[in-house]
Amino acid sequence: MRILAIESSCDDLAAAVLEGPDRILANRVASQEKIHAAFGGIVPEIASREHVNAVSSLVEKVLADLNEGEREIEGIAVTYTPGLVGSLLVGLNFAKGFALSRGIPFIGVNHLEGHLLSVFLEEKKPSFPYLGLAISGGHTNLYFVEDLGKRKLLGQTVDDAAGEAYDKVAKILNQGYPGGPILDRLAQRGDAGAFSFSLPRVKRGKYFTSFSGLKTAVLETARKTGLEEKLKERPIEECPEALNLVASFQKTVVDIVERMLVKAGEEYDCPRWVVAGGVACNSELRRRLKETAARRGAELFIPRPSLCTDNAAMIAYVGHAYLARGLRSDLSLNAVANERNT
Ligand code: KG4
Ligand code: ZN
Repeated sequence: MRILAIESSCDDLAAAVLEGPDRILANRVASQEKIHAAFGGIVPEIASREHVNAVSSLVEKVLADLNEGEREIEGIAVTYTPGLVGSLLVGLNFAKGFALSRGIPFIGVNHLEGHLLSVFLEEKKPSFPYLGLAISGGHTNLYFVEDLGKRKLLGQTVDDAAGEAYDKVAKILNQGYPGGPILDRLAQRGDAGAFSFSLPRVKRGKYFTSFSGLKTAVLETARKTGLEEKLKERPIEECPEALNLVASFQKTVVDIVERMLVKAGEEYDCPRWVVAGGVACNSELRRRLKETAARRGAELFIPRPSLCTDNAAMIAYVGHAYLARGLRSDLSLNAVANERNT
């Protein structure tokens, strides 16, 4: 079954065509990074208005990417939760119109399930059950994933998501938006042992965590050392202490993530770890988790970076899996900002 998918839950708009179950025929993302960079973060109303401008031309482009003989679309999948409601509604309504006009089945997909199952688009696939960490600008959620549509939320951040912490720290250090890829690059030139930050202790549960304390600690250090002011005038490359601060921040983020996976791996006796979402692009996180998993006899699955950041191929994968099982969504399906335990 060949399906089109649309993802518009946040600031990126994405469309993809998948020949089920796992052959990506077309996959495009229209990024709004430059627009939101001017504000140092996402402005929801701008995001949804930009989606309205871009959605039909992006879909036209992915359809034009297809070879002749691949043009017949047999189903459509779209993200309906979680995310910014105004953004979700753009993709959702476009997908409904597409399904209606072509008389094809329509299915709503949970964005987090998309991240958690995105790894099935890679050649090396895990078997169920596995520990799945969705780590991005909006989420840091750890799951025990048992099957399609069957997962248990073990814990999550109680405040900022990991990617949000990257974005905020980059803003504090005057390094632009989105902070993740920028700080990842800069951290490679710093000494990660230069500053030591304590790991969070969260009462809510074993697998709950927090990144806002770390962000505040970085802010306080930047103020105390005068780096916050210095970086308003000087490029960070001229401040070795700032590069050290970035590297130390990054090391602590990776320590937090590693601790979550190691603990859950032991308790659930689960030697398969899947990590996905924008922050899973991080080079140090990938390097360290690979080492840790190998040391502990666990198998680590992290999709390629273009499948870690928001994309529609992962929505297509999940949508196809449901459609192939005969599931359909009603055309009255609404956008949901946050579902409990999604
Ligand atoms: O999954 P994603 O594209 O969108 C959300 O669902 O949030 O993730 C975006 C987040 C941003 O916060 C960005 O700074 C972060 O992922 N990110 C990274 C890296 N690349 C993207 N964080 C750390 N290191 C990276 N290399
Ligand atoms: Zn995402």
